[in-house]
Amino acid sequence: MIPFLDLKAQYTSIKSEIDTAIRGVLDSCGYILGPEVAKLEEEFAAYSGAQFGIGVNSGTSALHLSLLAAGIGPGDEVITVPFTFVATIAAIEYAGAKPVLVDIDPKTYNMDPAALEAAITPRTRAVIPVHLHGLMAEMDPILEIARRHNLVVIEDACQAHGAEYKGKRAGSLGDLAAFSFYPGKNLGAYGEGGMVVTSNPDLAKKVRMLRDWGAEKKYHHVLKGYNYRLEGIQGAVLRVKLRHLEAWTEGRRRAAAHYDRLLGAAGIVIPEPKPYQRHVYHVYAIRTTQRQAWQEALNARGIQTGIHYPFPVHLLPAYSDLGYKSGDFPHAERAAAEVLSLPMFPELTTEQCETVARAVIELAESKLAAAS
Ligand SMILES: Cc1ncc(COP(=O)(O)O)c(C=O)c1O
Repeated sequence: MIPFLDLKAQYTSIKSEIDTAIRGVLDSCGYILGPEVAKLEEEFAAYSGAQFGIGVNSGTSALHLSLLAAGIGPGDEVITVPFTFVATIAAIEYAGAKPVLVDIDPKTYNMDPAALEAAITPRTRAVIPVHLHGLMAEMDPILEIARRHNLVVIEDACQAHGAEYKGKRAGSLGDLAAFSFYPGKNLGAYGEGGMVVTSNPDLAKKVRMLRDWGAEKKYHHVLKGYNYRLEGIQGAVLRVKLRHLEAWTEGRRRAAAHYDRLLGAAGIVIPEPKPYQRHVYHVYAIRTTQRQAWQEALNARGIQTGIHYPFPVHLLPAYSDLGYKSGDFPHAERAAAEVLSLPMFPELTTEQCETVARAVIELAESKLAAAS
């Protein structure tokens, strides 16, 4: 049995550190925000190459508050991609703005910068590139287009802790960036969590107020805010885990390199980061037109897989009111129909990678045999 993700293995490896950290919060009663969250904010901002970190209760809240702090609201258009988790688009609507979607590059699954430029209107105020699967979007052209059109850039870095583009970390390139600490993420809490990072002191101050009822200090509410605070226990857990994150990321990259070598040689479509991108493999996705059959066959051999994501957001019933239709974003639609995520977590062994790769290659070869 090879699981898709093994949270238990990770907890077991750091159990005593985690248990001590949680006991510390219980003893100090710093349940909401508090010193552990404040230290995590400093440490995670530094890790991401940004000046300020503001802990919130989810990646979705981080996106929502980033948009609000940037002054995005009704009448504004925000450009992003349909091949993402639904939260990216939901957050734009929470802010009262209109999501405008553009297609992806079929090789990276990230925003196509040429499509971004073509979608800009006089109402466009912001762009949210999503660093999908842990691979950063093509930030140079995106930032250049944004600068020319005076757009705010908010990185959706919810899947990209520690990813790099030309030596710069996810979170250090946009005006603001949103991270998720959902348990399965590369840096995951033991509950919900998220963070906004930015190097702009005014934006940081606004996000900090908005996440705690818009208050400058207790009962001094200067903005209409939210209860989006990060819990102390999550802060303590995440601080322990942050100390291990680089080693875990290298574990993922090692596993990905094994997959690459075996699957690439067999002609399977594998992730293709450019030499200047540090992929952190939140997800390791291959592609196949036989996805359902492959998923069932792998499952029958005890190999769990996932799909990130089976539907592009514009084809989900909840977002039919955006007015898009099938065929509008062919690359996103095809990717959603074909991607298959293989087991990926830092503790995945070479042997497990080989078992998975062998099973996938057999499926690919049996398809070729059937076709000939
Ligand atoms: C790309 C992307 N954006 C946003 C989110 C939302 O994060 P959360 O689940 O912490 O609200 C997620 C994670 O689920 C994500 O993968």
